[in-house]
Amino acid sequence: MDKFETEVQARTADNAANETLQTAAQGFLTASIGPKYSYNFSWLGRPIIQYPQDIVAMQELIWRLQPDLIIETGIAHGGSLIFSASMLELNAACGGPKDAEVLGIDIDIRAHNREAIEAHPLFRRITMIEGSSVSDVVISQVRAKADGKRSVMVCLDSNHTHAHVLAELKAYAPLTSVGSYCVVFDTVVENLPAASSGDRPWGPGDNPMTAARAFLVDHPNFEIDSSIDHKLLISVAPKGYLRRTR
Ligand SMILES: C[S@@+](CC[C@H](N)C(=O)[O-])C[C@H]1O[C@@H](n2cnc3c(N)ncnc32)[C@H](O)[C@@H]1O
Repeated sequence: MDKFETEVQARTADNAANETLQTAAQGFLTASIGPKYSYNFSWLGRPIIQYPQDIVAMQELIWRLQPDLIIETGIAHGGSLIFSASMLELNAACGGPKDAEVLGIDIDIRAHNREAIEAHPLFRRITMIEGSSVSDVVISQVRAKADGKRSVMVCLDSNHTHAHVLAELKAYAPLTSVGSYCVVFDTVVENLPAASSGDRPWGPGDNPMTAARAFLVDHPNFEIDSSIDHKLLISVAPKGYLRRTR
């Protein structure tokens, strides 16, 4: 590890014990949900429903891991698919895997979103499956796509209930390559007031963080990469960056 990276790690590790910073970050997260902060951004023209910090963390991971397949549940407007495809394009331009691709799954791909995603110059790296991410048919299609891949990343960002995310983790986390990541988005719901979830079927006690916690009990081959949490501070995926260790 070079000196710069060693310094980053030491500095960000200190954030864990920095109560002022932790409180400020949590205050921002809590206050930013109501004004729908995560809906303010786009990536290469498509709306991406993420916080910028998580987008940067994903960039760091995709560059480091050089995946040849990124599996994403939850497409919405397609911004995260286009983001991943753009990173794979950059990796390829810099000597990484040439034919790396993104597989997106959504239960409801709206016609206008599909049209815009398919018209995007980076669509050639994207395949979309319409269906529930936890249906047997979809799971077997995804497994078939992952078969023979060298480096696979998984991102879960669809229905955020405990039961759904746990089922997704059981189906897709095993496709994550050793050393790669299964990223569970919206674990932040556990740390927000119940009112932030509105009328959605998830909330504190029933959300992606509770699902990831349950999954980790039975899957010691995954661990939380807390260094990412400490670095980002502001993230919708705290304790959700799961690294496969073996
Ligand atoms: C938060 S959005 C995804 C945002 C997207 N990843 C991004 O970063 O822009 C959640 C999506 O999950 C989809 N979804 C909900 N339930 C699902 C299910 N059972 N299977 C697959 N997708 C589902 C919704 O249709 C919605 O488009």
